[in-house]
Amino acid sequence: MFKFKFKFKFKALLALSCLNACLGTIYDSVQDLPGLKYDFIIVGGGTAGLVVANRLTEIPSFSVLVLEAGVSNEGVLESTVPFFVNDLLSFNIYDWNYTLTPQPGLNGRVLPYYRARLLGGCSAHNIMVYTRGSKDDYDRYAKLTGDKRWSWDGIFPYFLKNEKWVRPADHHDTAGQYNPLVHSTYGLNPVSLSGHPWPVGPRIIQATQELPHAYPFNLDMNSGKPLGVGWLQSTIGGGQRSTSATSYLAPQYAKRKNLHVLLHAQVTNLVNSSYSKGKLEFGGVQFLQPGSPPYTAKATKEIILSAGPVGTPQILMHSGIGNKTALSALGIQSLLDLPSVGQNISDHPAVGLSWTVNSTKTLESLAPNSTAFNEAFAQWNSTRTGPFVMGGLTNLGWLRLDPDSPIFEEFPDPSAGSLSPHIELLFSAGRSGATGHHMGISAAVVSPISRGSITLKSNNPLDPPLIDPGYLTSEFDLYVARVGLQRAQEFVTAPVWNDYVIAPTVNITNFTTDELNTFIRNNAAPIAHLVGSAGMSSSDASYGVVNPDLLVKGANGLRIIDASVLPIVPGAHTQAATYAIAERGSDLVKASWL
Ligand SMILES: Cc1cc2nc3c(=O)[nH]c(=O)nc-3n(C[C@H](O)[C@H](O)[C@H](O)COP(=O)(O)OP(=O)(O)OC[C@H]3O[C@@H](n4cnc5c(N)ncnc54)[C@H](O)[C@@H]3O)c2cc1C
Ligand SMILES: *[C@@H]1O[C@H](CO)[C@@H](O)[C@H](O)[C@H]1NC(C)=O
Ligand SMILES: *[C@@H]1O[C@H](CO)[C@@H](O)[C@H](O)[C@H]1NC(C)=O
Ligand SMILES: *[C@@H]1O[C@H](CO)[C@@H](O)[C@H](O)[C@H]1NC(C)=O
Ligand SMILES: *[C@@H]1O[C@H](CO)[C@@H](O)[C@H](O)[C@H]1NC(C)=O
Ligand SMILES: *[C@@H]1O[C@H](CO)[C@@H](O)[C@H](O)[C@H]1NC(C)=O
Ligand SMILES: *[C@@H]1O[C@H](CO)[C@@H](O)[C@H](O)[C@H]1NC(C)=O
Ligand SMILES: *[C@@H]1O[C@H](CO)[C@@H](O)[C@H](O)[C@H]1NC(C)=O
Ligand SMILES: *[C@@H]1O[C@H](CO)[C@@H](O)[C@H](O)[C@H]1NC(C)=O
Ligand SMILES: *[C@@H]1O[C@H](CO)[C@@H](O)[C@H](O)[C@H]1NC(C)=O
Repeated sequence: MFKFKFKFKFKALLALSCLNACLGTIYDSVQDLPGLKYDFIIVGGGTAGLVVANRLTEIPSFSVLVLEAGVSNEGVLESTVPFFVNDLLSFNIYDWNYTLTPQPGLNGRVLPYYRARLLGGCSAHNIMVYTRGSKDDYDRYAKLTGDKRWSWDGIFPYFLKNEKWVRPADHHDTAGQYNPLVHSTYGLNPVSLSGHPWPVGPRIIQATQELPHAYPFNLDMNSGKPLGVGWLQSTIGGGQRSTSATSYLAPQYAKRKNLHVLLHAQVTNLVNSSYSKGKLEFGGVQFLQPGSPPYTAKATKEIILSAGPVGTPQILMHSGIGNKTALSALGIQSLLDLPSVGQNISDHPAVGLSWTVNSTKTLESLAPNSTAFNEAFAQWNSTRTGPFVMGGLTNLGWLRLDPDSPIFEEFPDPSAGSLSPHIELLFSAGRSGATGHHMGISAAVVSPISRGSITLKSNNPLDPPLIDPGYLTSEFDLYVARVGLQRAQEFVTAPVWNDYVIAPTVNITNFTTDELNTFIRNNAAPIAHLVGSAGMSSSDASYGVVNPDLLVKGANGLRIIDASVLPIVPGAHTQAATYAIAERGSDLVKASWL
C-alpha cells in the first residue's frame, strides 16, 4: 500500500456533529432489533451494500436489514480527514487484518492485505481516487456477459447517479482541469478535484506539454478515454472523505423506518436450504455477535451478498456453494457445485520510485507532531481547508505499451482495448516517513494477466480465508512493471524538472533486466483493487458465479452486489465501478419485485 504514515492519536478532539449512529435505525445489539424477518437482508454495510440499502428503502413497502461485521464510522477521524489516508492501513479495529499467502511473484513475500471492517467498507479507508475505467473495460463486460446493459453506455447513467461533483475545498478555478460534461452534480457521493495546491501538480501538467507525444494531457480521465496524464479526482467533498456511510447512509436516509443496520454482526453462512424447481434456496442468514450464540435472520424476498470480494466468496463457500471437491475435502456439505467461486481473481500491484526535490513544499513538511502539522490540523478542524483536505496524490497518468513491444510476440494484449491502459502512474507530493523532500511516482500494472484465488483454510467460518492474488506470476505483468518504472523515470527528464528534481532515490537507469525484476519483486505491493471472486458471465457460460442480473447461478433469491462480480479488473481504481454496480444492482432488484 502507499504509505505516507502520519500516526495520529488525538481523535477525541474531533467534534463531528451527531450523524447516523445517533439515529435509531443503526443498532449495536440484536436485542434492540424489532425482529429478524425482513424482505431483504444485505450482508455487508460496505461500499456497495449501503448503496443497495439506500435505494431499496426508497420503496416504503420494502423492509431491509443490513448485517455489518464492523463498527460504526461515526467520529473516526482517520476516516474523515483526507490527509490521514494511510492511518487506517494497518492491523487495527477497523480492519479484517488479512495476510496474503506467500506471493511467488514477489519473491515469496508475505504481505498484509487491508480490507475495511467498518460501516462504509473500503470506501471508508481507501485512497479516495475516483476513476471509472475506459469505455473498453465496460464494453468487454457487456461482451463477456452477453448483456449490453453492462457496456459503457449502459453503465454511464449509474456513474452519474452515484456522483455528486462538488468544488474543491480551496475553491480554486477548475477551468481546464476537468470536463463538466462527463460529471453529475445530482448524485449522492461527493467527488472533487484536489483542494490544496502542492507545487508538483502544475509541473506535472507542464511536463505533458513538454513531452506531449509520450505523456499527452488528458482533460478528464473519467470520460471513458483515460489515456494520458491529468488531474486527480477524489471521493472528497467539503474537505472531508466521502464514504458510502457518509453519503448513502446520511441522517435523512438512516432515519428511514424500513431500514435497519446491525453492527458487530458477522455473517458465517446461509442456512435453512431447500430446493425449489431444481434451484437452491436459503431461508436464513446466520450471524454472530460478540459473546452471543448464532442468530438467524430471514429474508422473505432476497438475500443480497455485499460482503466484498473477500467476504462474499468466503460466505458462499461456507454455505456449500463452490467447488464441490474442494468443499467436500474440508467437510463442508456441497449444495451447489460452482467451481468458479473464489477463482480467477485479479488485482493491481504497484511499485514506487521517488526523487529528492528542490522544494520544502512536500508531504514531509507535515511530519506528525511538527508545528506545521498541528497548524494544518487546526486549519482543517476549523475551516476544512489547508493541506489536510487531500491525500498525498496530485495527478494520475494512464499509458499503453508500445504496440511494437516484443512482449506481444509471446502474449496477446490482455487490455480491454485500445482505450485501456497497461500502466498507471500515480504522482505524489512527497514520501512517507522520509527525511528530506521528495516527489513520488508509482507504477501500477493495470492490465494483469496474472490470476489468483480465494479458498478456505478450514470449515470454520471465523478462520480468515487464503487470499492469493497471484501478483506478477505472469511474465507479461513483470514486463509491464518494468516499462512502468522506465516510463516514470523518463517522465522526469522533461525540462520542467531541471530546477526541481535533484536526484532519484534509487537510480534505475542502468539496471539490467534482472536487477529491475529483483527491485520490482522486492518492492511491489497491492493497491487492493480485487475483483472476480464471484464473477458474472453470460447465462449459458460454463463458468462464472452470477448471471448478468447478478443472481447466483443455480440459486433462487440470492444475489451478489459488490466488487466480486467484475470478471476482470478494470484499468482503474475500483470504487467508482463498485458504486455503479451497486446502483445498477439496486435497479435490478427493484425490477424483480415491483
Ligand atoms: C487499501 C485500499 C485502498 C483502495 N484505494 C482505492 C482508491 O483510492 N480508489 C478506488 O476507486 N478504489 C480503491 N480501493 C478499492 C475499493 O475501495 C474497493 O474496490 C471497493 O470499496 C469494494 O467495495 P465492496 O462493496 O465490494 O466491498 P467493501 O467496501 O469491502 O464492503 C464489504 C463490507 O462487508 C463487510 N463484511 C465482510 N464480510 C462480512 C461478514 N462475514 N459479515 C458481515 N459483514 C461482512 C465488511 O466489513 C465491509 O464493510 C482500495 C481498496 C483498499 C482495500
Ligand atoms: C485486527 O487487529 C486489531 C489490533 O491488533 C484488533 O484489535 C482487531 O480485533 C483485529 N481484527 C480482527 C477482525 O481480527
Ligand atoms: C434454520 O437454521 C438454523 C441454523 O442451522 C437452525 O437453528 C434453525 O432451526 C433452522 N430453522 C428452520 C425453520 O429450519
Ligand atoms: C475443484 O477443486 C479440485 C480440488 O482442489 C480441483 O482439482 C479441480 O480442478 C477444481 N475444479 C474446477 C472446475 O476448477
Ligand atoms: C476463468 O475464466 C476463464 C475465462 O476468462 C474461464 O474460461 C475459466 O473457466 C474460468 N475458470 C474458473 C475456475 O472459473
Ligand atoms: C508530540 O511530541 C511530544 C514529545 O515527543 C509528545 O509528548 C506528545 O505526546 C506528542 N503529541 C502528539 C499529539 O503526538
Ligand atoms: C477542533 O475543533 C473543536 C470545535 O469544533 C475544538 O473543540 C477542538 O479543540 C479543535 N481541535 C483542535 C486540535 O484544534
Ligand atoms: C532551486 O530552486 C531555486 C528557485 O526556487 C533556484 O534558484 C535554484 O537554482 C534551484 N536549485 C537547483 C539545484 O535546481
Ligand atoms: C543514474 O545512473 C546513470 C548511469 O549509471 C548515470 O549516468 C546518471 O548520472 C545517474 N543519475 C543520477 C541523477 O545520479
Ligand atoms: C548506462 O547506460 C547507457 C545507455 O545504455 C550507457 O551509455 C552508459 O555507459 C551506462 N553507464 C554506466 C555507468 O554503466
